[in-house]
Amino acid sequence: MLFEEFSASVSVLVNGEECDGGRISVFDRGFLFGDSVFEVLRAYGGRPFALRAHLERLWASMSKMGIIPGFGPALIEEEVKRVLVRFQGADAYLRIVVSRGPGALRLDPATAFGPPVRVVMAAPLPPFPADLYDGVHLASVRADRPSDATPARGAKISAYIANLFALLEAKARGAYEAALVREDGAITEGHSSNLFVVKGGELHTPPVSSGILPGITRGIVIEEAKHAQIPVRERLLFASDFESAEEAFLTSSLREIVPVIRFDGVRIGNGQPGPITRLLHERYKARVRAELGIA
Ligand code: PDD
Repeated sequence: MLFEEFSASVSVLVNGEECDGGRISVFDRGFLFGDSVFEVLRAYGGRPFALRAHLERLWASMSKMGIIPGFGPALIEEEVKRVLVRFQGADAYLRIVVSRGPGALRLDPATAFGPPVRVVMAAPLPPFPADLYDGVHLASVRADRPSDATPARGAKISAYIANLFALLEAKARGAYEAALVREDGAITEGHSSNLFVVKGGELHTPPVSSGILPGITRGIVIEEAKHAQIPVRERLLFASDFESAEEAFLTSSLREIVPVIRFDGVRIGNGQPGPITRLLHERYKARVRAELGIA
């Protein structure tokens, strides 16, 4: 696909103004320094899922970055509705970005002119691999995020350079997703997902305190597991937990729940999506239908 085709397929609002092709100032600190935060969510049949939860997290990210938006969530909700007009009845990829705004080419945020710039975009949902839900391979990659040792730890900051290189390494090793490994060997999350294993009929996933992105999908899966009487343990995971797991899966707003059937080349369980993974995915989809009033 050419860039022109792609950009024509995306509805973009910049500070509430329609912006074909999407342009921001070269002085924007998000562009210059990655001084911005974002949210990615999925719209089903033109309706955004879990928008409130995503906006709560967006505000938490802005607060951690010291970005004072000067507008409220209701404005973003309005703009999400506007960019989804073209996607009525269709599934869509929604991205909301807030940068600290234009600045004087200096890193010190005190030199930012502001006000923060908000971008709301809706794009066709990226096609997923046809066999995605048959299970994917995970590759462990040693990676620290730029925000890990800063007050922005756990925020969804735009600077995804560590995630980008982790993805490249995972791809080079024939895997679909990277499992990010901390210096102490703990596996925190995927380069663009949260991770779960099933052991002894229990669901185990790293705690938010481990510095992961507190995934919206992760939160719903934990709730649904508890409703289904599946014990949930939030604890650090290591490579051995994946290698000895009965099942494993990753979660993300765009892809929901994706079974993981190999970890660093080691087959997980019987190499097929497991029953708890499938049960939780069915419950997740039912939750989406119920919350969006979809039959
Ligand atoms: N990824 N961790 C990271 C580093 C992510 O980039 C994402 C989201 C998640 C899952 O969070 P949530 O369940 O709130 O989407 C965890 C995007 C959305 C994706 O690739 O699907």
